[in-house]
Amino acid sequence: MKTVLVLFGGRSAEHEISLVSARFVIDSLDPARYQAVLCGIDKDGRWHHLDASQLPQSRDPRHVSVNATAPCAWLEPMPPRVGEKHVLHVERSAPIPFDVVFPVMHGPYGEDGCLQGLLELAAVPYVGSGVAASAVGMDKLLQKRVFAQAELPLVPWTSFDRAAYRANAQGALEGAAALGFPCFVKPANMGSSLGVSKVKRREELRAAVELALELDTTVLIEQGLEAPREIEFAILGNDEPVVSEPGEIIVEHADGFYSYEAKYLDPNGARLAVPAELRSAERASLQVLALQAYRVLGCAGLARVDLFVSGGEAYVNEVNTLPGFTAVSMVPRLWKAGGLDGMALVSRLLELAFERSAVRRALRTTR
Ligand SMILES: Nc1ncnc2c1ncn2[C@@H]1O[C@H](COP(=O)(O)OP(=O)(O)O)[C@@H](O)[C@H]1O
Ligand SMILES: [Mg+2]
Repeated sequence: MKTVLVLFGGRSAEHEISLVSARFVIDSLDPARYQAVLCGIDKDGRWHHLDASQLPQSRDPRHVSVNATAPCAWLEPMPPRVGEKHVLHVERSAPIPFDVVFPVMHGPYGEDGCLQGLLELAAVPYVGSGVAASAVGMDKLLQKRVFAQAELPLVPWTSFDRAAYRANAQGALEGAAALGFPCFVKPANMGSSLGVSKVKRREELRAAVELALELDTTVLIEQGLEAPREIEFAILGNDEPVVSEPGEIIVEHADGFYSYEAKYLDPNGARLAVPAELRSAERASLQVLALQAYRVLGCAGLARVDLFVSGGEAYVNEVNTLPGFTAVSMVPRLWKAGGLDGMALVSRLLELAFERSAVRRALRTTR
């Protein structure tokens, strides 16, 4: 029996989504092989040991939160002594041993390499990508640069940071407007469509940029594709990743794109088509593109790769290194369609975590 430390919540605008994802992961642990220890990270970034009854039951992100009065918990940033186990320290209680961490975290601090850095220092096996792939996967700007260098197809884009905007707002806005309208304005580091605006007219650009700059210090502006097909792939694996069948997001919300409301709040905001209807040659070429994106970033464990298809062209939109894991999320749905149910998927992810950790621990540390 292995003990899985499930981390969720966190100092991110995607805190609530993470709580709903955690529920799915915990419910999908194979009781014959794994037991869970729960640690919720509140919105101030403080860790709390929770028992199973304290995990929010709701699947509605508006009705979940981490119980911040539960005892504080923490990990030490150093490996245990040889032969000893990793432990979660808990205020006024005995430390709780565990074998592996499943960070069910979305957004800054959880998905962007920060947490992964702590886990690397502590030499803990953990699910998902390492520090660099997590950081680049979270940062839309760095990600674009890496993909551009690998010559993956991207929608035309530009970006600037808060300092450049303060120094010359007019110039920055002119540069963005040169991409034409509609354009999409996004904080470089965020997810769940938070702070993403579809800007249809020049007059709306300033407000969209300022909103994005409240959520991150860098803003990205992209040419808007006209009603693109949004095709997503789930990928699973370390050195030999496998790609799922395609899924498609069919947006039906009045926002006209896959906004936060369309994703999580409006039950009729979007439909998921699994598998997406694509001719087999096109499906195969999109699968190759998704795998390339995964490999170029150096992902491990899992990711979801989101593509746009518009006017017969495919574009890489983004890679999510810790994608949504709610019962209605694309990744569990895609793998289920591929014959891997929630339990098989979570078991596989934990195996991949042990595998990657063993490879890293075996690297030579001498000359
Ligand atoms: N360049 C674009 N053209 C058309 N639609 C876009 C474009 N960029 C983003 N969108 C729409 O906005 C949504 C959210 O953008 P995305 O970059 O995926 O942000 P997030 O990381 O928050 O999911 C996409 O799913 C899509 O519906
Ligand atoms: Mg997205």
